[in-house]
Amino acid sequence: MNVSVLLAIESSCDETSVAVCNNGKITANVIANQTIHQNYGGVIPELASRVHQQNIIPVIHEALSIAKVNKNELNAIAFTQGPGLLGALLVGVSFAKSLALGLGLPLISVNHMHAHILAHFIDSPKPSFPFLCLTVSGGHTQIVLVKSHNDMSIVGETLDDAAGEAFDKTAKILNLPYPGGPLIDKHAKLGNPYAFKFGEPQIKDLNYSFSGLKTSILYFIRAQEKINSNFINDHLNDICASVQRSIVDILLAKLKKAAKQFGINEVAIAGGVSANSGLRESLGTLATEQGWNIYIPAFEYCTDNAAMIAIAGYYKYLDGDFVGQEVAPLSRMEF
Ligand code: KG4
Ligand code: ZN
Repeated sequence: MNVSVLLAIESSCDETSVAVCNNGKITANVIANQTIHQNYGGVIPELASRVHQQNIIPVIHEALSIAKVNKNELNAIAFTQGPGLLGALLVGVSFAKSLALGLGLPLISVNHMHAHILAHFIDSPKPSFPFLCLTVSGGHTQIVLVKSHNDMSIVGETLDDAAGEAFDKTAKILNLPYPGGPLIDKHAKLGNPYAFKFGEPQIKDLNYSFSGLKTSILYFIRAQEKINSNFINDHLNDICASVQRSIVDILLAKLKKAAKQFGINEVAIAGGVSANSGLRESLGTLATEQGWNIYIPAFEYCTDNAAMIAIAGYYKYLDGDFVGQEVAPLSRMEF
């Protein structure tokens, strides 16, 4: 039997992560989160690169140790080539290239957005092809038609802000620290999702727009604060619940439209925002109504992690899809 032991590196944003994958099974997934950005209300690219530089060697050692693998037993090195922050990607890409060169191993380039989707192939049940995946992260919002592990196309995407940005920017308006998505989720659990109503985007096809929603929330809060200067604190749970409901409604309306258009009832969600409890719950309700089989990743595989890079790399390894040492990071990467 052909044995493949892959090491994968993820450094596209503010998580330094390394995973090991043995014949398609994840045997280690170490994630070093960067707390430094919390002080700034968003990820500071220069700081992210520096912390990746500090984290990368200890995280590699820890992953190899957890997987009980010696570096000489590795068969390939996979890495996130993009999209992401250029300086952050540079750390992971350079390390992957050096490691591959030093060990004489093939290099596998992984698109971070493909990897979010392929995270569904880490555990079971796995979706069957073709399926639709709503990928919602801090930088992207896409509906993807997935035909095979290595063949997928975007059928709808955001024209401006991503869903994660809509959560994070609203959190900023509400004076909540970065990343605001999980905090809005937490407060939303205690609030009334129908307490307040915000403007809805009028986009006809399968695309999204979230910038209008953000503006509508901002103007609403400002107007309310003129009447009650403590409006945010007095109504935080209801505001969060209503914002979350608006974002989830917008996301699911287009997903429903796409499923009808393509006649597909295998539906998955992926990316950081797929950790959102409101999205998970509403997707469940919609799935029952529409007769969909749904796939929701385990929490640890929703936000950025190298296990998803490893699994995406594994399918490329099976296809013999390698890149040369001239490879460089891409802040924007063709899907
Ligand atoms: O996929 P991800 O880890 O990084 C990117 O590739 O962008 O996604 C991060 C995004 C952030 O915007 C964060 O606020 C959001 O995912 N997020 C959530 C939740 N957990 C993470 N948004 C809403 N509810 C959550 N529970
Ligand atoms: Zn991501």
